[in-house]
Amino acid sequence: MNVFICFMFISVFISQFLTFDATPNNLILSVHQSSSLATAPIPSIADSSPGVQPISTSHKSNSSKKIVIGLTAACLTGVILVLIMCLMICRRKKIFRSSKIRANRLDQLRGLPLSSFITRTNSTFKQTSLQPSVTVMDYNLLKTATNDFQESEILGSGGFGRVYKAQLDHNLLAAVKKLDNQSIDARKEFQTEVDILSKVHHPNIITLLGYCVHDETKMLVYELMPNGSLDTQLHGPSCGTNLTWQCRMKIALDTARGLEYLHEHCKPPVIHRDLKSSNILLDSKFNAKLSDFGLAVMDGANKNIKLSGTLGYVAPEYLLDGKLTDKSDVYAFGVVLLELLLKKRPVEKQKQVPSEYQSLVTWAMSQLTDRSKLPSIIDPVIRDTMDLKHLYQVAAVAVLCLQPEPSYRPLITDVLHSLVPLVPVELGGTLRVAENRVAAALEP
Ligand SMILES: Nc1ncnc2c1ncn2[C@@H]1O[C@H](COP(=O)(O)OP(=O)(O)OP(=O)(O)O)[C@@H](O)[C@H]1O
Ligand SMILES: [Mg+2]
Repeated sequence: MNVFICFMFISVFISQFLTFDATPNNLILSVHQSSSLATAPIPSIADSSPGVQPISTSHKSNSSKKIVIGLTAACLTGVILVLIMCLMICRRKKIFRSSKIRANRLDQLRGLPLSSFITRTNSTFKQTSLQPSVTVMDYNLLKTATNDFQESEILGSGGFGRVYKAQLDHNLLAAVKKLDNQSIDARKEFQTEVDILSKVHHPNIITLLGYCVHDETKMLVYELMPNGSLDTQLHGPSCGTNLTWQCRMKIALDTARGLEYLHEHCKPPVIHRDLKSSNILLDSKFNAKLSDFGLAVMDGANKNIKLSGTLGYVAPEYLLDGKLTDKSDVYAFGVVLLELLLKKRPVEKQKQVPSEYQSLVTWAMSQLTDRSKLPSIIDPVIRDTMDLKHLYQVAAVAVLCLQPEPSYRPLITDVLHSLVPLVPVELGGTLRVAENRVAAALEP
């Protein structure tokens, strides 16, 4: 369009140039020519009337030259503009083709249009999508992407199988969870995971890129989370050294945001039912996302569901009476808060009697409210690195979340609001601290 306007402008300019050149000389030339047709002999300068300019031959040839130059310039400009337009069209086509190739390549991984997925991964926050969108992926492509499910590509393993790193495209990495478990429960969980993750989209909830069913093999394909799970970060080889106090608070805030979305913004509300540190995944910037929705239930559809979850995270009323509400997730969140503060597993073998297990909640509850004891039980990696007032506040939130009586526990929205002021603005909260201190706070 711009080129077209430019072309019009230059054309008008050239036509103006030619018109200027034609008057008065060319006009006079035509007057003279018509008069010369009437009177055969060419009048001399002396013969010419005073009102009419005499035309000399050199003047004539000058005018002709100008016309020729003008026309040549116009032609050249036209050719240049046409060339520019061709170049622009070619460039646009090339860009369009390369994005189409990328989309087609991903389309091959499945069957459904991938455009919905691309917009989905680019979006920041969306309310529950009414249109489920998920891609069915081709088995052979996933096989190639994971180097034939090679051991070296394993990211971790859980109750349902292994998780592999996959290179889907030049710049598209993914995590492929291959389900080995063929039980009815496993199939149900697979179905629930696909159903729920194709509908819920939020920055703090893992993105399901697609799934694959090949004979008895089932696979789920997620966005890759380069920093693995909170569980591996805390209890794996790095022993929590990558996680500063600020970073831990950000992880807690992100987790609360993910849960709040499920409880308050999804219709019907979703109860995760398996919140734990291994289901909190961390991207390259330690943004936390909730994963594993296989046990999740839509609130209201929670009648007669089988007791499930992970020991140490299950709320007492659910464990004892099968009573499931959003407050069960709040309890599990309280356990995750304890893990972040104390770097202890929710259920640990007792040092003195290894055959017996100790519940983290039982062990920590009394010490969390004791201000003199609390700093001494904190993970040594972060001990003395935080404002003590903030530590007491987080401990108080944890104590509330872990109340045995569900109605005494706060809603996740309340938890979220109490955490926001403890996280620096740069990390998604409202706490104002010097920029260099935030940068330092993120570095282990
Ligand atoms: N999207 C992902 N990106 C990177 N790593 C991942 C991803 N999903 C899972 N993992 C890794 O794979 C591990 C196993 O995950 P999986 O969900 O199968 O089991 P789990 O949550 O550890 O245990 P469980 O089966 O008891 O729920 C995780 O702990 C994590 O380290
Ligand atoms: Mg998991």
